[in-house]
Amino acid sequence: MARPATSEGTVIHTRSLTKDFVVSRTQTVHAVRGVDLDIAPGELVAVLGPNGAGKTTTMRILTTLIPPTAGNATVAGHDVVTEAAQVRRRIGYVGQGNGAGHTQRAGDELYTQALIYGLDRRAARRRSGELLESLDLTELAGRKVSELSGGQRRRLDVAMGLVHAPSLLFLDEPSTGLDPHNRANLWQHIGQMRAAHEMTIVLTTHYLDEADAMAERVIVVDHGQVIADDSPDVLKARLAGDRIALTASPAAVGQLAQLASRLPGARDVVAEGTKVALRVSDGPGALPGLLGTAHGAGIEVVAAQVDRPTLDDVFLALTGRSLRESATPAEPTTPTSRKDAA
Ligand SMILES: Nc1ncnc2c1ncn2[C@@H]1O[C@H](COP(=O)(O)OP(=O)(O)OP(=O)(O)O)[C@@H](O)[C@H]1O
Ligand SMILES: [Mg+2]
Repeated sequence: MARPATSEGTVIHTRSLTKDFVVSRTQTVHAVRGVDLDIAPGELVAVLGPNGAGKTTTMRILTTLIPPTAGNATVAGHDVVTEAAQVRRRIGYVGQGNGAGHTQRAGDELYTQALIYGLDRRAARRRSGELLESLDLTELAGRKVSELSGGQRRRLDVAMGLVHAPSLLFLDEPSTGLDPHNRANLWQHIGQMRAAHEMTIVLTTHYLDEADAMAERVIVVDHGQVIADDSPDVLKARLAGDRIALTASPAAVGQLAQLASRLPGARDVVAEGTKVALRVSDGPGALPGLLGTAHGAGIEVVAAQVDRPTLDDVFLALTGRSLRESATPAEPTTPTSRKDAA
């Protein structure tokens, strides 16, 4: 996909965005390492990556909460460092594990937030009512925030970020901790708002199926760098491909694997027991020809299955690691140099 090289026509534009955290005299964490982003108005972008990849840090820079160590970022037409106030006015942000104030009642908390964002009393009451309704919080409006469950509080956090219907919205793991019903409600509400207000939304999630279904664009980050950026379908077709699994008699498996590896575009051919597995870019397209060839060679294939790839397969193809496995190598660190510590 062609991306504009300048900030023109983009709502988020970064070049060489970098963030180092000096954690001690001897160690610096390189959380974000030279990130270039161009996000156009109206896009819904999911940022994926393992724990510690730099997703939250990038979002905190884009929402002006922390300055970058190097590089630059323009958000909604304004520089995040020199024009932070202008940026803040134009965005909404739901941080990872925000936690609204504790002693207020949930409904009052949301209403107050709407007033802070400049809605008049009537609009604030209407807007907070709408959000309570669509995030399934109406019954809980009279409860103190400190008494809500984790998932209920998370929904309130999301409502707080949406109250002024910003045209650019950052959501850091908005659906983490929500049950399936409330995840579906949240997505429905995000979809409606997007349609009504032409919003641009950048979100992070660890639910790969959610990103696959909802986002038009997926940015995969690992160790502070962007390692892939495209639509879920293109990423899956280009990087992972469909997986074909064939079952035959153990005596025929070796020959079947040979035939499979001659298939144009076939890769990762593995033969084990009675099974041969391989990857191709178009499984349903390739399977009939492969079965025909096997039949012609006198091999009886007793079962055949095509699995479409997931975004986890994409990550696996890119890094050799699975996003589903929680254990990820430590983030890149280096000894703190004199320049960092300054
Ligand atoms: N304030 C800080 N001081 C020191 N190190 C930090 C700080 N904030 C983040 N880091 C480190 O920077 C790296 C990136 O963290 P970040 O929170 O951006 O990851 P993430 O991709 O959002 O991960 P997760 O999926 O767990 O939310 C991690 O190694 C983290 O420990
Ligand atoms: Mg995070």
